[in-house]
Amino acid sequence: MSVTVLVGAQFGDEGKGKIVDYISAEMDMVVRFQGGDNAGHTVVNESGAFKLHLIPCGIFKKGCVALANTGMVINPDELIKELGEIEAQGVDTSNLKISSRAIILMPYHIELDGLSEKSGRTGIGTTKRGIGYAYADRARRNALRFENLLDHEYCFERVRAVLPTVNAELLAKGGRAYTEEEIFDKIRFWSEKLADRIVEPVSYVNKAISAGKRILFEGQLGAMKDIDLGIYPYVTSSNPVAAYAAVSGGFPISKIGEIVGVMKAFSSAVGDGPFPTEMDGSEADGFRGSGNQIDDEFGARTGRARRLGWLDMPIVKYAATINGFTSIAVCKIDKLDTYDEIKVCVGYKLDGKEIDYMPSARELYRVEPVYVTMPGWKSDTRNIRKYEDLPLNARKYIELIERESGVKVKYIGVGPARDEIIVRD
Ligand code: GDP
Ligand code: IMO
Ligand code: MG
Repeated sequence: MSVTVLVGAQFGDEGKGKIVDYISAEMDMVVRFQGGDNAGHTVVNESGAFKLHLIPCGIFKKGCVALANTGMVINPDELIKELGEIEAQGVDTSNLKISSRAIILMPYHIELDGLSEKSGRTGIGTTKRGIGYAYADRARRNALRFENLLDHEYCFERVRAVLPTVNAELLAKGGRAYTEEEIFDKIRFWSEKLADRIVEPVSYVNKAISAGKRILFEGQLGAMKDIDLGIYPYVTSSNPVAAYAAVSGGFPISKIGEIVGVMKAFSSAVGDGPFPTEMDGSEADGFRGSGNQIDDEFGARTGRARRLGWLDMPIVKYAATINGFTSIAVCKIDKLDTYDEIKVCVGYKLDGKEIDYMPSARELYRVEPVYVTMPGWKSDTRNIRKYEDLPLNARKYIELIERESGVKVKYIGVGPARDEIIVRD
């Protein structure tokens, strides 16, 4: 089967960028299928170090098509900026295509998100990139899509129709109104820069599948931030789960052969919401670093210090259940190299009783994690490339992940760079 989907198994920032960059060596097409520039996917390879927000991480492989597909909300200004930045680092971006059905994230979506976050009542700690408001406009059918950039008259007509509602909301939230001309100028500029990259996505993807092309769908964020299945309301506004690649891509779900879940060897999250295994300040600082290294725990999009905690296996198990992982990639095992003991949460107690389901956000605030303590390995794993060469206790850690999740660990990250990885057959 030629379709692989890769998604986050925790709260986002698991190391998806690194694993996509590695796997894309074997791919003909890499496709982003949800989210927008709330993503920050870190890639370190022979071309340099990158934090990609909208461009699929397969862009570095020569000849690989990178498709920003339906299901995404794309800020064209950010895309143009990101293309410029990676081109300046010598990366060929001619293979970047955009779905005609992708939603255009407008400047006012960003403003509305910012205003909503400023209000103590509605803020949840978003990335303030306008994601929720762009998806809301899609749902209420007020959004523009990339196809509209190819037909200015119709596009302007749509802007005239929706702008009064947008401006009323902006003014009610204490923002400023937009003029039609401001938006028309943007549309002219975006068309000039991006029109050549727009493709009709359903035939594009299905033809590639029929031709046996190897396609990787790259998820953004992670299962716990799924709008339906995550810690609502502290979630994003899309579905970062494998099935959504087929829903938004317009191809049969039966075409998906592999589903790779990416997880970190511990837990991290940005934004508000429950986090059962969260560590307090000083303990967390050990994982976080100062921010000077590419792999320190600061948001790749917002620069916010990430909240950190011990590995939470009920979360990974839940992600495996809802996605159907065929394999797991565990990143950052090297970050545990110095610990004497490592705690892993293997269950939750709610009101004193062990539970066997993922509770809602309100209950998750109240659960008591059940921990096991594993002995550390106290040695450097960063130069190891074969599973058998990992210290015994590191292998035991991986085996615990396999036992608790019921899924085989195929990839183990031992550093941020592309080749700092162990691949098991
Ligand atoms: P993504 O959003 O899932 O792509 O993850 P991010 O890029 O936001 O965050 C993952 C962080 O971990 C980045 O700083 C990566 O450079 C780093 N990283 C990924 N895999 C590894 C690994 O195996 N070891 C180390 N030390 N860092 C890693
Ligand atoms: P990647 O793809 C981590 C979080 C925000 C907030 C919630 C909603 O790099 O893993 P949004 O801006 O989407 O409306 O914010 O989701 N969030 C992320 N956290 N990694 C990300 O992306 C995230 N994208 C959004 O912090 O809690
Ligand atoms: Mg990230």
